[in-house]
Formats: sequence, C-alpha cells, structure tokens
Amino acid sequence: MERVYQRTFALLKPGVLQRRLVGTVLSRIEAKGLKIIGMKLLWLTREQCKVQYGEHEGKYFYPPLLEYMTSGPVIALVLAGYDAVKTLRQLAGPTDPAQAPPGTIRGDYGTLTRYNIIHASDSEESAEREISLYFQEEELHDWEDGNTYWYGGAR
Ligand code: PPS
Repeated sequence: MERVYQRTFALLKPGVLQRRLVGTVLSRIEAKGLKIIGMKLLWLTREQCKVQYGEHEGKYFYPPLLEYMTSGPVIALVLAGYDAVKTLRQLAGPTDPAQAPPGTIRGDYGTLTRYNIIHASDSEESAEREISLYFQEEELHDWEDGNTYWYGGAR
C-alpha cells in the first residue's frame, strides 16, 4: 500500500513534565523514526483547551479533562514521517492506559485515562487543525536527516 508522508500533532500532557518523563517520551518518538519538526512548551488556557477538545463538550469527562490539561505546562509537538498519524497513534496505544499494551507509551507510563500522558491526532485533518491552533507555518522546520533508508525512504 502506498505510504503517505504526512504531519501529525501530539501534546505531552502536564503529568509528563511533573514526572520528568519528557526526555523518555521524546526518545520513544524519535527512536520510532518520527521527525520532530515543531516543538513548544505551552501552558494552555481554558479557552485553548475548549477549542482543542470542543467536540467532547457535554461528556462526563470534559470538566476533568479541562482541569487536567490546564494544570501545568504541556509540550506541543509536530511530527513528520510516512503514515505519521497512524504510526504515532500506535506508538501511543489506546486511550485507556489499562487497555494499552506494554511497549506503547500509554501502556508503559500511563495510569488512568484522565492522566494518559499523550494526545495524538486521530486523522490527518485533525492533525492539521490542531497544528494550526498552536503553530505558525514558519515555526515548523522539516529537515533531511540522512536516515531516510531506515525511517521510510526504502520502498
Ligand atoms: S470518545 O468519547 O470516545 O470520543 O472519547 P475518547 O476518545 O475516549 O477521549 C477523548 C479525550 O478525552 C480524554 N478523556 C478523559 N480525560 C479526563 N478524564 C477522563 N475520565 C477521560 N476520559 C477520556 C481522553 O484522554 C481523550 O483525550 P486525548 O488528549 O486525545 O487523550
């Protein structure tokens, strides 16, 4: 099947900074072969969170989700690679860490869904929408790393 070179978006949630897991999670993402092309430390406002998670307004978990996501800084990431959306979702694992297998980021470092470590866009459309919430295009820098053979260039 034809693979698509694309961008995706991730948020490392406040617990990642609290637990000093930023480097650990970033190294999992890098080792997989996704390329970091944008990265920011942000403390989200309630307004930004409402835009990010607007589709979930009214659900029982919406208030605790907003409370958690505004409780401390997050790391916003733009990642590029072949099938980057699916690759990152698989690396992150299922939303509920209890269902996430060992070897996934949520499976290895998550506890409760409320504190599930990482947000990963669920489609290319969501990724592009979310990227535009936090980044200007000129803040993103795609680059050639010479390792294309390992991470997607080989057909
Ligand atoms: S749904 O209804 O199936 O579309 O929701 P789901 O994809 O499972 O979750 C959507 C986001 O809400 C977060 N979530 C929660 N946050 C706090 N507390 C609870 N109980 C909770 N349940 C779900 C979930 O982690 C998803 O956010 P992201 O950032 O994508 O992980």
